[in-house]
Amino acid sequence: MKIVVSGTRPTGILHLGNYYGAVRNYVRLSKDSDVRGYFFIADYHSFTTHINPTELPMLVRQTICTYLASGLDPEKVIIYVQSDVPQIAELYLLLNMLAYKGELEKVATFKEKIKLHNENINAGLLTYPVLMAADILIHRAYMVPVGKDQEQHLEMTRDYAKRFNNRYDVDFFPEPIAYNFGEELVKVPGLDGSTKMSKTGGETNAIFLNEEPDMIRKKIMRAKTDSGPTEMNSKPSQEIQNLFELMQIVSAEDVVSHYKNAWDTCTIRYGDMKKQLAEDMVNYLSPFREKINALMQDTDYLGKIVRRGGEQARESAEKTVSEVRKIMGINYF
Ligand code: ADP
Ligand code: TRP
Repeated sequence: MKIVVSGTRPTGILHLGNYYGAVRNYVRLSKDSDVRGYFFIADYHSFTTHINPTELPMLVRQTICTYLASGLDPEKVIIYVQSDVPQIAELYLLLNMLAYKGELEKVATFKEKIKLHNENINAGLLTYPVLMAADILIHRAYMVPVGKDQEQHLEMTRDYAKRFNNRYDVDFFPEPIAYNFGEELVKVPGLDGSTKMSKTGGETNAIFLNEEPDMIRKKIMRAKTDSGPTEMNSKPSQEIQNLFELMQIVSAEDVVSHYKNAWDTCTIRYGDMKKQLAEDMVNYLSPFREKINALMQDTDYLGKIVRRGGEQARESAEKTVSEVRKIMGINYF
């Protein structure tokens, strides 16, 4: 069995970048009968930014709904909430002893986040990659479907796995790889000209999977453009490149090549391109919206899925942690 693990922080309904960069690959991998998939809601991770306790339950439910609406089948994969598996916290503590402060301070996501949240640079934020390594190693996973922004975290997970194996002279943890279906890791751009669609990028950056058609149209029509190409076959600006990349995801091939050609020959009209992109986006996302809206009504069903998932995840986690304890000598009487 190939063990696959991945997770998403409970920041509510996911956006197109989360789906296309990560969750789509969870679904594709889980269709392989050789795969045992563990997909979780990384609620511990969200506390690095002091999340509001009254909002958290809704955010967790919304994230589970997005998993299900994307096609994850709870009969085939294990869907659970991270904090339902306390063994993860134990492994995190033990792995922290193999994680060096200097290395953690150099992590790109840490450096970005301390710029954004200068008032709250907590130890949880610094050790975010260690908790993520614990999430993955707790099931001794081999494949981790994630977007490109998580590549460095995966590299650190491999470092901790190697360090543990070397220190205790065992071949216990596999060295997991970041996985995207046969292609390079993906980064879906934002609508505001930034290279990454992101939940924290604000309303003008991301399109959510349950977004209403009119809102999709509004956001796309407002997306940044430039004053247009002045030379044949020139390189598009970042904003225009982003629109092309989004088109590649949701539009038919001939539509994309029509607009590429219009760009190359300087005959492109951004208004038309955006209208087309908006309609294709509406069609692409409608099935997600419908499923999410239906699932959000059924809290009992969601609860049932994660309770069962939690049990299965704890069983696997307990096996790993009891082995780790033995290997480390935590085995006194
Ligand atoms: P965000 O960056 O919006 O806060 P998360 O960090 O919770 O989202 O990411 C959840 C998953 O979605 C991760 O595997 C991440 O790599 C992936 N992901 C997030 N944004 C993008 C994007 N713009 N393109 C591709 N993958 C993405
Ligand atoms: N760090 C990931 C993100 O920000 C979420 C995450 C936490 C994760 N633990 C994980 C992803 C383990 C894959 C495996 O998107």
